[in-house]
Amino acid sequence: MKQQRFDGKIGESVTFPTFTFSVSKDFKTKHIAVLGLGDRKTCTADTVRTVGGHLVKLAERVNAKIVATILHGAEIDGLNVSESSQALIEGVLLSDYRFHAFHGTKRKGETPRAHLSTLMIAETNRRAYARAQEGIARGRILAEATTYARDLVNTPSSHMTPRHLADEAKRLAGNNITVKIMDEKDMERKKMTAALAVARGSQHPPFAVHLVYRPRSAKKKIAIVGKAVTFDSGGLSLKPAEHMETMKCDMGGAATVLGLFRALKFLTPDVEVHGIFLAVENMPSGAAYRPGDVVTAKNGMTIEIRNTDAEGRVTLADALSYAADLKPDAIIDLATLTGACVVALGEEVAAVYATNDKLAERLVEAGKDVGEPLWRMPLVDAYNQHIASQIADLKNTGAHGGGSITAALFLKNFVGSIPWAHLDIAGPAYTERETRSDQPYGASGYGVRLLAKYLMERKY
Ligand code: BES
Ligand code: MN
Ligand code: ZN
Repeated sequence: MKQQRFDGKIGESVTFPTFTFSVSKDFKTKHIAVLGLGDRKTCTADTVRTVGGHLVKLAERVNAKIVATILHGAEIDGLNVSESSQALIEGVLLSDYRFHAFHGTKRKGETPRAHLSTLMIAETNRRAYARAQEGIARGRILAEATTYARDLVNTPSSHMTPRHLADEAKRLAGNNITVKIMDEKDMERKKMTAALAVARGSQHPPFAVHLVYRPRSAKKKIAIVGKAVTFDSGGLSLKPAEHMETMKCDMGGAATVLGLFRALKFLTPDVEVHGIFLAVENMPSGAAYRPGDVVTAKNGMTIEIRNTDAEGRVTLADALSYAADLKPDAIIDLATLTGACVVALGEEVAAVYATNDKLAERLVEAGKDVGEPLWRMPLVDAYNQHIASQIADLKNTGAHGGGSITAALFLKNFVGSIPWAHLDIAGPAYTERETRSDQPYGASGYGVRLLAKYLMERKY
C-alpha cells in the first residue's frame, strides 16, 4: 500500500492479485482490494454509499463477479451497523444499475445488474449480525424502489405514456395501498381544466392518479405531488431540438412518487401518505393550448398562458389544488420544473422552496443523510409582480430572471394555507454523465430515498 502511495482518501484503491491463494476448494479469492474511506471523523452513511459504488467499479475493472467485504465505518462516530450496511447495499445496487430494456440485438439478454452476481458481507459479532441484516433489508427495499423509479424515467415516452404511468400506479395497489385512477371525463368533473389544457395537444389522453398508503394507526397525513409530463416538446412554444432530447425525464416527479409507494409498502411508517400526479403529454398540434389562452385551475384561479413550455406549473396547479382539498398536514411536490434551476444549482443539487422552516430543514437534513442534496431557495415576495397578469389572476411565465423562483411562487397560489415544500429536481432527475459513483447514465430516482427517510423520521 505504501509503495502504491495509498493513503485512504475516498476514491482511492489498491488491488493485490493473490494468484493461487484459496480460501476453500470452491472459493478461490483472486484479488484483495483496499478502498479509501477518507477521514474516520467524517465517515458518514453517504461516504459508505459512495464507497459501495467504488467497490462495484473496482470489481468491474478486475472482472470479479463475486465480492466479499466487511462493514465499513461501523460503530465509529455515530454511524451504526444498521446504517452502515444499509448504505453499503444502496451504494452497490445503485451503482450496479443499467437500463438494458431497449437493447435489441446488440446486447441481448443482458440483465439490469451491470456486473456483480454476489455480494457477501462478513460479520462475526452476533448482535452486529442481526442489525446488519436489518440494514441490508432496508437498503435492498430502498435501492429497489429507486431503480424502479429510474426504470420508469428511462423508458422512452413512446412507451411511457400517461396511460402507462397510471397502469404502473394500479400495479402498486394491495395491502396498505389503494389507487384511484381518473380519466379525462373524471378530470373534467373535478375541474382540472388547467391540466386538461396542457394535455389537449397530445394523441395520448391524460390520467389523474391518487395513491393512498394507510398504516394501522396514523396521526399525520402527508401529500406528495409529482410532475408527470411524459414528454415535454414545449408545445406550440416548441423547444429547440437539443433541449427536447432528454424530455422523457419530465415525469421524474411522478416516478419518485411511485418509487416511494413501492418502498412504503415494506417500510410501513405510521403516517398516512397520499401520492398524486396528473399525467399528460405536452405536444403541439391543431388542438394544442396556445400562448395567450386563459385557463382555469381547479381552485378557480385563472392563468394566462404566455409560454406553453411552462406547462409543468399549469398541470401542478390542479394537482396541488386537489392535494390541498384533502387537508393534509403538509404538501411536498417534486417537479422537473425549470431549466433555470439547473443553471443555478447544477445537476447534483435540487432546490427546495418552503412556506414552513421546519419542513424545509427536515427535508434538507434527510437529503444530506441519503446523499440527495437539497439547497433552500427563497420565495421572494417581490417577484410575484413578474407573474402578475393584466387579464387573468396569474400568468405562467415571468421575464427578468429568477425562473426557478417565479415558478415556485406560481405554485404557492394553489396550496392554500397548508405547509408546503416544492422540490425543483430538474437538475438531478436525469444525467447523461455519471455524476456520482452510485449514479450511472440516465435517470437517478432522485427523491425516493429522501422522502422515505423524511417519512421514517416520524417528524412531520
Ligand atoms: N421540463 C422543463 C424543465 C426542464 C429543463 C427539466 C431541463 C429538465 C431539464 C419545463 O417544462 C420547461 O420547459 N421550463 C421552461 C420554463 C420557461 C418556458 C419559463 C424552461 O425552464 O425553459
Ligand atoms: Mn416545458
Ligand atoms: Zn416540462
